[in-house]
Amino acid sequence: MYTQSFNVPDDAGKTVQPLKAAEPAELQARFDERIDADGRIEPQDWMPEAYRKTLVRQISQHAHSEIVGMLPEGNWISRAPSLKRKAILIAKVQDEGGHGLYLYSAAETLGTGRDQMLDALHTGKAKYSSIFNYPTLTWADVGVIGWLVDGAAIMNQIPLCRCSYGPYARAMVRVCKEESFHQRQGYEALLVMMQGTQAQKDMVQDAVNRWWWKCLAMFGPPDADSPNSAQGMRWGIKRISNDDLRQKFVDATVPQAQVLGVTLPDPDLKWNEARGHYDYGQIDWDEFWATVNGHGPCNHERLATRVKAHHDGQWVRDAALAHARKQQQRALKEAA
Ligand code: 3HC
Repeated sequence: MYTQSFNVPDDAGKTVQPLKAAEPAELQARFDERIDADGRIEPQDWMPEAYRKTLVRQISQHAHSEIVGMLPEGNWISRAPSLKRKAILIAKVQDEGGHGLYLYSAAETLGTGRDQMLDALHTGKAKYSSIFNYPTLTWADVGVIGWLVDGAAIMNQIPLCRCSYGPYARAMVRVCKEESFHQRQGYEALLVMMQGTQAQKDMVQDAVNRWWWKCLAMFGPPDADSPNSAQGMRWGIKRISNDDLRQKFVDATVPQAQVLGVTLPDPDLKWNEARGHYDYGQIDWDEFWATVNGHGPCNHERLATRVKAHHDGQWVRDAALAHARKQQQRALKEAA
């Protein structure tokens, strides 16, 4: 459904030559020129510190969202209604873990260590997407997360395939392809439930009612209240504004809801002929900010689970390091 425009030109070869001798003003001018020409910035290129900082902020928040995003659905792996649904869900949750890894790697190319980023997450200093602080109460929530949450994520992430920072843009191409499968599997699971019993149909409607508004808020605050948007767009990191992406998502989702046979819980949702878009009601921004700032229904539980998983995985990291040391010693011995 969202697989359009994946033809992202691979212009990695257009990388700027190393600029060892140039003065900062000249470096800045070359950087601006490249951004204005819609070119890519690569890790070895000079970049303003504020650009680097913005990228680390956004990419690390994005990586955190992917790995925290494994938790609400991971909760249902042992309770999936069939072997087929279980296999699909395991694959999807593993994909999200993989997305986190690509994104942490992309952020590391900017000079920030993974330990630093994880520490910021685990100590509650770093943000991650608001959407993952809500509970998954029934199996229908798993389908609705695929359809709406992953659907919103793709809408936001397709433009990131054209982000000015090369490693982030390239990571996003694969992430978007996988997210497209996530969205489709969720929608298909719901279609099956909507052909089932009245209890199954009610379960789907209830899940849609609980997730709809939270998904609209995922795109971030209104453009007028978004402190990072203007600069992010100037640098070609963001390509489409929060409000424009939200509108695209609403317009794409209304017909999907009609096919599914569910009602989107918004009495103000109606087609506006003059605008050529659907109008929609007010998002509860107070609730959004409370959740972003740590006071959503599951913030505490999500962080505690992450921290425990990190501690429980210490032996794996130790073993990997011991293995790498052994390999290195063997290679040194062979070379001697
Ligand atoms: N949840 C938590 N915080 C949010 C948020 C959300 N839904 N939306 C915005 N914010 C935060 C911003 O991070 C920023 O915080 P900071 O200045 O302290 O870092 C603040 O609110 C103001 O928002 P802005 O609009 O000014 O911030 P941005 O210009 O960075 O735009 C964004 C926000 C649109 C989320 C942008 O950062 C972005 O596109 N990020 C990459 C995509 C991403 O992170 N998606 C998260 C979901 S991933 C996912 O869903 C996984 C999938 O598997 C389902």
